[in-house]
Amino acid sequence: MRDAFEVRHADAAGRIGELRVPRAGATVETPAILPVVNPNLVTVEPRRLADEFGVEMLITNAYIVHSTPDLRERALDEGLHAMLEFPGAVMTDSGSFQLAEYGGIDTTTREILAFQRDIGSDVATPVDVPTPPDASRERTLDDLRTTEAALADAEAVDTGEMLVSAPVQGSTHLDLREWAARHAYGTTLDIFPVGAVVPLLNDYRYDDMVDVVAAAKRGLSRDCPVHLFGAGHPMMFALAVAVGCDLFDSAAYALYARDDRYLTVRGTELLDELEYFPCTCPICTDHTPDELRGLDDDTRQDLLARHNLQVTYGEIRTVRQAIRAGNLLELVDSRARGHPAMLDGYRALLDHA
Ligand code: GUN
Ligand code: ZN
Repeated sequence: MRDAFEVRHADAAGRIGELRVPRAGATVETPAILPVVNPNLVTVEPRRLADEFGVEMLITNAYIVHSTPDLRERALDEGLHAMLEFPGAVMTDSGSFQLAEYGGIDTTTREILAFQRDIGSDVATPVDVPTPPDASRERTLDDLRTTEAALADAEAVDTGEMLVSAPVQGSTHLDLREWAARHAYGTTLDIFPVGAVVPLLNDYRYDDMVDVVAAAKRGLSRDCPVHLFGAGHPMMFALAVAVGCDLFDSAAYALYARDDRYLTVRGTELLDELEYFPCTCPICTDHTPDELRGLDDDTRQDLLARHNLQVTYGEIRTVRQAIRAGNLLELVDSRARGHPAMLDGYRALLDHA
């Protein structure tokens, strides 16, 4: 019996839901964005994520903690929440992203899942294999068999109250995505991330993202919380929620700030090219682009990251309100007019409706 997630309101395939996270003693309202916190390079302190932005849940990388001796000792000793000084729920990733980026990692699902349990993670992740878009069917199937074994290993670990995610891979083969989702649903695991979409999003392939998520949703049921792994740009939240995603994680707020990039719901602007800030958040109200350009790197990055978070959390509230008002598709339509690739995504969404 699955009882971690409850849908409260729906519009199109989008929904407002409640994710119960027993180990954190918390309930998280969805759609939710989990800011990515790199424990080696903190951009906005987790405490401020909670206080300033109302963040209920963040995500960090257990593999980085595990492979950094000083962090590993501290996490085992104090626990992840105390180490990060974060009062809410903490999800952890497993090293799969590193596996995809660098071709290998020195851990296993059994080891890294037990580690996630031991450092007090509230939602853990096995070592899935993110197969990139357009991979051959043969390679995709081969990777899926490895992910399948990882999910079986995850089911065998004593995880107690910790929730465990069951990533859905399958590259751009829609029948394999659906198959992988049906398999994930058949496990005892709790949350269903759609994986390896970062390369699609980086290439603005929003239509393929929609098709891949829709295929995964066909293999799941309505009571499954769906996470879009690595998706954190506010311009695509409305679209992704409308196809049925409930959870997102964003490193974009920090990564973009480091490159002097400014997020909006219509895309990304370069700080250097802005004369005015098209935003009413406290940072944009109190500063001009010129003032920001005159600041030292750390201060400028901090302010840009905080604007990026403001627009990110503002958009999630806009999406939630659109679901309540029953006009989510109108919001997607208006966001689609901000960027031609978003229009392709919107058309793909309408094809599924
Ligand atoms: N982060 C971004 N994409 C992925 C993915 O496919 N799997 C995991 N575990 N983490 C991710
Ligand atoms: Zn702003």
